[in-house]
Amino acid sequence: MAKMITVQKGTKDILPIEIDSWHFIEETAKRVFSNAGYSEIRTPIFEATELFARGVGDTTDIVNKEMYTFEKSERSLTLRPENTAGVVRSYIENGMHRLPAPVKLWYKGPMFRYERPQAGRQRQFHQVGMEMFGISQPTADAEAISLAVNYLNAIGLNDLDVEINSLGCPTCREEYKKRLKEVLKPYLSELCPDCQKRYEKNPLRLLDCKVEECKAIYEKPEVKEVITSDFVCPECHEHFESVKKYLDVLGIKYSVNKLLVRGLDYYNRTVFEIKSNNLGSQNAVCGGGRYDSLVRNLGGEDTPAVGFAMGMERLISLLPQKESQKLDAYVVSTNIEETLKLVEYLRQNNIKVDFDMTNKKFTKQLEKASKLARFALILGEDEINNGTVSVKNLANSEQISVQKDELGGILKNVR
Ligand code: HAM
Repeated sequence: MAKMITVQKGTKDILPIEIDSWHFIEETAKRVFSNAGYSEIRTPIFEATELFARGVGDTTDIVNKEMYTFEKSERSLTLRPENTAGVVRSYIENGMHRLPAPVKLWYKGPMFRYERPQAGRQRQFHQVGMEMFGISQPTADAEAISLAVNYLNAIGLNDLDVEINSLGCPTCREEYKKRLKEVLKPYLSELCPDCQKRYEKNPLRLLDCKVEECKAIYEKPEVKEVITSDFVCPECHEHFESVKKYLDVLGIKYSVNKLLVRGLDYYNRTVFEIKSNNLGSQNAVCGGGRYDSLVRNLGGEDTPAVGFAMGMERLISLLPQKESQKLDAYVVSTNIEETLKLVEYLRQNNIKVDFDMTNKKFTKQLEKASKLARFALILGEDEINNGTVSVKNLANSEQISVQKDELGGILKNVR
């Protein structure tokens, strides 16, 4: 036998047994997002590498370690590790800034990050998310968070924690970074190698470190004092207070997590994550925030923006498994010509129906029908002579005889 080729590490097949759950969360996304005025956008899976280097930020783990980058015709291309940069590129390139604000877009699709696979973390995973352009007011931040919560509730996830924080603006954040570096200087040699690099390049990311030794340092009183200080300028403070007020008005419970800095560089002011206690260490189902400089940094006009994305595999792992849907009907007959005609007629009438192609015995066909379908449609000699079909309800074995041309209507009504 030839050597079997297996699926790549960190990737997964989505099998028929799971597909109903996928359709459910995708269809709910379409409904919930479009009810809030969002249109779907589909952008390419690969983009110029520079888009992510400039967009996501070249000090981030995503850009430094996790991108699937390859060359074609002397161009450096990258499989998208996330979709905000791609949507912003499309927004600029397609002149969407000329549309009335806000421009509201949602998306779903595969993303690729070369990470160490573990429960809840894959190298190819899927995100559903939204981006809203053109609104600088805190109402947009609150709408993004409430949309995320509404969507999660709509798919049946209610027991989740919303965490928010404000990263301030480039001006107030610079001062904060300085203070953070000062207070951490004496501990520099005790920080993990990654944090030692972050200390120079992007000190805010230090707060996101999951290494126990680093986390212990952030608990030291003098360090904690800086971390928990309200460092943001009056304008950023007011913005954050309004976001919190609107969340209160909407009845959305949240907590402020001063360590929440997010792993992507484009954020300013509000950032948020939604977490589940039932997911282990990869517990974030949703991450997002405001990114007012990204459109300009990628060559567009100054445009405020806010958005989020959710990991669809993580959402599915939190949902009870959906029972796979049965066929409406299975035709049981040894007359193949009449079976073919009946199946064709029913499929034209939008009935989910199948039949035995191997001409097995009647009883075998009936057994198969009871495994696969809700109704057996029996076509014996009598039925064929009378132009009828015997419809057997496989849940309670009740059987009725109906005219063939009434069948479509009857099966649709009992669906
Ligand atoms: P992110 O936090 O990198 O943000 O990803 C968002 C969500 O995608 C995470 O909360 C998680 O549920 C899921 N996720 C991320 N990486 C993996 C992985 N390796 N395996 C499985 N699931 C994963 C972003 O991507 C931003 N673009 C979100 C955003 C949109 N910000 C503004 N607009």
